[in-house]
Amino acid sequence: MAHPDRRMRTLMLAAMLGGSMGHAALAQITDPDRRAAATEAQMTDDERFAMIYSIMGAATIIGMTPDPRLPAGIPMSAAYVGGVPRLGVPAQLQTDASMGVTNPGYRPDDKGATAFPSAILLGSSFNPAIARRVGEAIAREARARGFNILLAGGANLTSEVRNGRNYEYYAEDPWLTGVMAAEAVNGVQSQGVISTLKHYAANNFEHNRHWQDVIADRTGLREAELLGFQIAIERSQPGAIMCGYNKLNGDYLCGHDWLLNQVLKKDWGYRGWVMSDWGATPSWEFALKGLDQESGLQNDVSLWGAEAFTDKLRAAYRDGDFPKARLSDMVRRMLRSMYAVGVDKWGPAPRVDMAAHNAIALEGAREGIVLLKNDAAVLPLATDRPLKIAVIGGFAQKGVGSGTGSGAVLPVGGFAGELNIGGAHGRLGVARSLFLTPPAPVDELKKLLPAAEIEYDGAYTPAESALLAQRSDVAIVFAVRVEGEAFDLTDLSLPWGQDAVIDAVVAANPNTIVVLQTGNPVSMPWRDKVKGIVQAWFPGQAGATAIAEVLTGTVNPSGRTPITWPADLADTPRPTMPILATKWGAPVTLRFDEGAEVGYRWYAMTGRTPMYPFGHGLSYTTFDYSGLQLRGGDNVTVQLTVRNSGARAGADVPQHYLTRAPDGQRMRLLAFEKVTLEPGESKAVTLTGDPRLLGRYDERAGRWRLAAGDYEVMVGK
Ligand code: GLC
Repeated sequence: MAHPDRRMRTLMLAAMLGGSMGHAALAQITDPDRRAAATEAQMTDDERFAMIYSIMGAATIIGMTPDPRLPAGIPMSAAYVGGVPRLGVPAQLQTDASMGVTNPGYRPDDKGATAFPSAILLGSSFNPAIARRVGEAIAREARARGFNILLAGGANLTSEVRNGRNYEYYAEDPWLTGVMAAEAVNGVQSQGVISTLKHYAANNFEHNRHWQDVIADRTGLREAELLGFQIAIERSQPGAIMCGYNKLNGDYLCGHDWLLNQVLKKDWGYRGWVMSDWGATPSWEFALKGLDQESGLQNDVSLWGAEAFTDKLRAAYRDGDFPKARLSDMVRRMLRSMYAVGVDKWGPAPRVDMAAHNAIALEGAREGIVLLKNDAAVLPLATDRPLKIAVIGGFAQKGVGSGTGSGAVLPVGGFAGELNIGGAHGRLGVARSLFLTPPAPVDELKKLLPAAEIEYDGAYTPAESALLAQRSDVAIVFAVRVEGEAFDLTDLSLPWGQDAVIDAVVAANPNTIVVLQTGNPVSMPWRDKVKGIVQAWFPGQAGATAIAEVLTGTVNPSGRTPITWPADLADTPRPTMPILATKWGAPVTLRFDEGAEVGYRWYAMTGRTPMYPFGHGLSYTTFDYSGLQLRGGDNVTVQLTVRNSGARAGADVPQHYLTRAPDGQRMRLLAFEKVTLEPGESKAVTLTGDPRLLGRYDERAGRWRLAAGDYEVMVGK
């Protein structure tokens, strides 16, 4: 047996000489980069070109007919890319995404997947471990269907509070976003499925996204929007990055030399590949700007009139405008990710335990529901006596609200209801529907309150709802708002006259609780009148159960809002949003002048008071902090003791913030930890942040600067 090193050298020599090395020999090469180089060296140009574009499956929901290049018998989904069987390179079968394996009409025989809680709810959990478990479960359900690439891992910051896709993102803060997104990716990739971090970067608003130009300064991006991606990439090495639709400072994200070649590939040393979003490749020249794969190329035909990485790129290749070395690099990036994650080593598909996945969905929903207000301890509901409970509105007799667009997950057994709103908001307007995910909150409440007299009213009119509230001990009003891809909120109000219903109900019964199911903060004209407010976000198929558990105290809520709730949009960096008035297809410019001062950082800088601050969330117990100790040096570490001073078990999230640095005031979340404590139990918590959060990024020097001197920090809830 030749000595391993000698065998390796032989293999490499053969590879470099372009000798014919079967894929069995190639598979002997353990280092992903070396194996990628050896494999790519043996590919023909046709095989290389076949890997740098993907073909979208036929989805009835947007009226797509099957592309003739799609082989028969493959599981239809977001994208298919041919492989190279003779060299052991698997085909790429790509599916959405962060809340579960989606099926917007691709596979009529697929009876549904686990609908996990939305990313912003997981962000509210401040618990990276739950993001990992969700990622693992989605990847198992993807793999069981033959999908080896999950388009999951939304890492944009929720920096614009009207953004329709905020439900798919974790937070307005880069540290929380980076840590959560990384664990989601680690969970997915632990199952041998490639995960994709998206939508890189500064894709924080949907309106006219294909013609939207975001103006934002580079330093501000480095310290916020980009830092979230950077932390996520460092902590999870996602196999792929998806660049977004819009422009940044005049250049499309998928053809952005600075974002892709300079920041991602050079500064951060990213070795995976960059795929475009679906219809985000208007030009073959994006191949020279750092884009490695054109995705769903039919969308480029419908939007820009032509495919980019097929004939046009071939012509550029023939004319010498697209160098061979670049083509090789594009392919090697994909191959190295495949080998690093192990999509070429799949054994039999893992058994999928849907009951276990539902339990994970329930755990996530329990951890991410946020108790915003609880006056006079109106919650939890008394379970020891037969209450008369009015449950009003929000289609609570059918299910919970879900986010729409490519992230929407068809649950097993289908939706409990679907109401298409449509609208002119681009092609995905057809997908702009209220999707109700079962089970029904009313039914889940009845299970936990067998002695109670629970009656449902459909909130058809305020007056009618008030009649039921009047003769009840407590009134719970459910309020829902449809949010999702391709459209944004014009303001933060609840639709369909739900505010008037809440006003009428609380006028009839002061013991009123509002349960929200939205993807963003909400304006609440009735806030001071109601006693309790719960934000359940889009909580997935176990959401109704978790809501009932929180309302009855079966579960002690521990969510903390990962996005600031404005008292008024006038307090935000964009008091008005005039571009919303532009028709679909018209170019728009959107300014992010806040730089790195996103979300809570903006409120700290401007001194304005939000309605609910980032990190806010109440509990049914109380927590005391004591024994704060500080350690300086080249970083800042705090240590404290957290004690559950109440009468029931619960979880708290002590958060460590920078409030002032030697070179000026600035607020930065440095670290957090979720601690679960029994009544009376104490726990020492040590919180050390990433030093980059203490510093400023020097774009010219290309590095972080940490000023010497005094830093002010604080620990808060
Ligand atoms: C969509 C979304 C992206 C999704 C892709 C495939 O337009 O922007 O998040 O993964 O296309 O469906």
